[in-house]
Amino acid sequence: MAPRPVYFDCDTGVDDALALVYLMASPEVSLAGIGTVSGNIDARRAARNTLDLLALGGRGDVPVAVGAMDPLTHSFDGGVPHIHGHNGVGEVELPPAERTPEAESAADMLVRLAHEHPGELDVIAIGPLTNLAVALKQDPSIADLVHEVIIMGGAALVPGNLSAVGEANIYNDPEAAQVVMEAPWQVVLVPLDVTLENTFEESDRLALAASDSALNQALADILDLYFDFYVGEYDRRMCALHDPLAAAIATGQITATRAPNVPVVVDDTQGPGRGQTICDLRYQRNGPKDVEGAHVRVVLETDQPLGPVLLERLLGYTG
Ligand code: BDR
Ligand code: CA
Repeated sequence: MAPRPVYFDCDTGVDDALALVYLMASPEVSLAGIGTVSGNIDARRAARNTLDLLALGGRGDVPVAVGAMDPLTHSFDGGVPHIHGHNGVGEVELPPAERTPEAESAADMLVRLAHEHPGELDVIAIGPLTNLAVALKQDPSIADLVHEVIIMGGAALVPGNLSAVGEANIYNDPEAAQVVMEAPWQVVLVPLDVTLENTFEESDRLALAASDSALNQALADILDLYFDFYVGEYDRRMCALHDPLAAAIATGQITATRAPNVPVVVDDTQGPGRGQTICDLRYQRNGPKDVEGAHVRVVLETDQPLGPVLLERLLGYTG
């Protein structure tokens, strides 16, 4: 099968870096373009990190466009240096790429690619959804042109991670997330319910460090700080594989075994529920039931742990 064209939207970002290299290593998809957004780090720095990783992996051919610096209705808050480092990649100095970002914006790139690949383009979004919302506002017809939108974000039946109910990608721009959930395209939402259950252990990080690929060695270094942060969640050094899980569902390496199509609304009020993904999961006790007219598939269970699948693919990548 010909690889499916992908527009990849990211805020690179430690787990974004893992997802990026995973996609670089995946023959099922072809990276048609990458847009960046402010989230873990600002959109300009995210683009630089992305270009550096692409260069290290011998993929200087993939265009990278800078996207929204600020969420739709407020200013970017500066990111999360205690989780992803001040530079977004765990304070690791990557060899600087020679390339600079494209002249077009990330939203323009998405609109262009949707028209160039009608019915074929997959969108994988693993940061705040600002660029997708801007693109939809610019050209609502992209909702009919895009094949599927796979999003790492939200929390369906578990707590949030940035607030009691808000997951970071959604919480950072709830207004944009609501625009994206409302649009009549098929969304696959990969929430904390499943991403927190898929992890990398110190042994996985050490396996990357021992690889003879400079890219995998860099990933091992980048993961170091991230592992420290996750002691608070798992009581030992390891990490969640949020963004790589969305990427692996997009390639088909991981299958969603429970993922009902249900109405999803994002709370974009200023109250304590801000950023919550309210998934209507009523009447699902006896197995997944799709709700007629709904177009957001909420992933609640997957077929196998991602960790070994991800490690194998990263270690097998020769660039
Ligand atoms: C999400 O937020 C970001 O910090 C991660 O990169 C991931 O996309 C997890 O909530
Ligand atoms: Ca991310």
